[in-house]
Amino acid sequence: MPSGSEEHQAHCEPEASLPSVTLRDVEEAARRLEGHVRVTPLLFPEPGERPAVAVKLECLQIAGSFKIRGATNRLLFDVGRHERIVAASGGNHGIAVATACRRLGLCADIFVPATSPAHKLEAIKAAGATVHILDGPFTEVAARCADFADAHEALLIHPFDDPMVIAGQGTVGLELLEQWPGVTTIVAAVGGGGFAAGLVVAVAGHAEIVAAEPTLCPTLVEALAAGGPVPVGVGGVAVDSLGAPQLGMLAYRLLAPALRRVVTVSERDILAAQEWWWRACRLPLEPAAACAWAAARSDQALVGPDDCIAVIACGGNSDLVEIVEPAA
Ligand SMILES: Cc1ncc(COP(=O)(O)O)c(C=O)c1O
Repeated sequence: MPSGSEEHQAHCEPEASLPSVTLRDVEEAARRLEGHVRVTPLLFPEPGERPAVAVKLECLQIAGSFKIRGATNRLLFDVGRHERIVAASGGNHGIAVATACRRLGLCADIFVPATSPAHKLEAIKAAGATVHILDGPFTEVAARCADFADAHEALLIHPFDDPMVIAGQGTVGLELLEQWPGVTTIVAAVGGGGFAAGLVVAVAGHAEIVAAEPTLCPTLVEALAAGGPVPVGVGGVAVDSLGAPQLGMLAYRLLAPALRRVVTVSERDILAAQEWWWRACRLPLEPAAACAWAAARSDQALVGPDDCIAVIACGGNSDLVEIVEPAA
């Protein structure tokens, strides 16, 4: 297994210096994001089934994933303070930062590893960002990105360990509660943990979060076992979105006391779910979203017939060929 991710940047501060994220932060993010992001639909793919299962289609979000929420919230929070924005990511975070900058009239520099998936690289370029393609492991790419940010006094947007990014991602949860007030269980995929952390804050007291992780990207499982984020080896079909080299410290602090279930999903089940969504609904879910769907269907999810389960289809930036002709 390769170690480290090409999507995420290891960045964990000492716990004592970390800010917190509150419901108020998520509510403020929701107000800030109004008119900037889509309200995504909630689909019941098998009407009448029990337990009831709905899917929130963040794959239809601007830039193809929920990531635009965190990136845009961070940019609007800092509005006027920076002219240049930088991020290190050859995946959805890079696409989101590039797209959010274009929509707000800002210049984005995105640092990407040469090994990033071609369709995601194309999307970053198409959004108009200046793309810096670098050889070497992701940690080196992230370090070059940080140096560039220092030299240009640019705002560096971290993919998950940033309170404003977490608050922005949490707006998915607030929107869901409005669409389905009876929801009891929300299934979400975890990479660096910013998305699930935002959801936990947003829906506390209303619904429980079930975290979904590919067995080959066990950042959360390993962090919970070790009592804190630890470096993990990552790989597999979802590595470009869920392959953080380790869970974020801020995410850990929010998730560890709140999560009761983490479901691990095999590569085969991720690919089968992706194929089902394409054949049954003509929706190109990417592996991270398929992972959450497969987790909701797994025995490990321990749901009962009266539960109301929402699966977040977190991204749709797939290459169609991957779905129609999945790798064995
Ligand atoms: C589609 C998709 N889903 C889920 C995640 C995981 O988000 P986080 O790293 O905040 O856990 C990512 C991260 O890039 C993603 O792109």
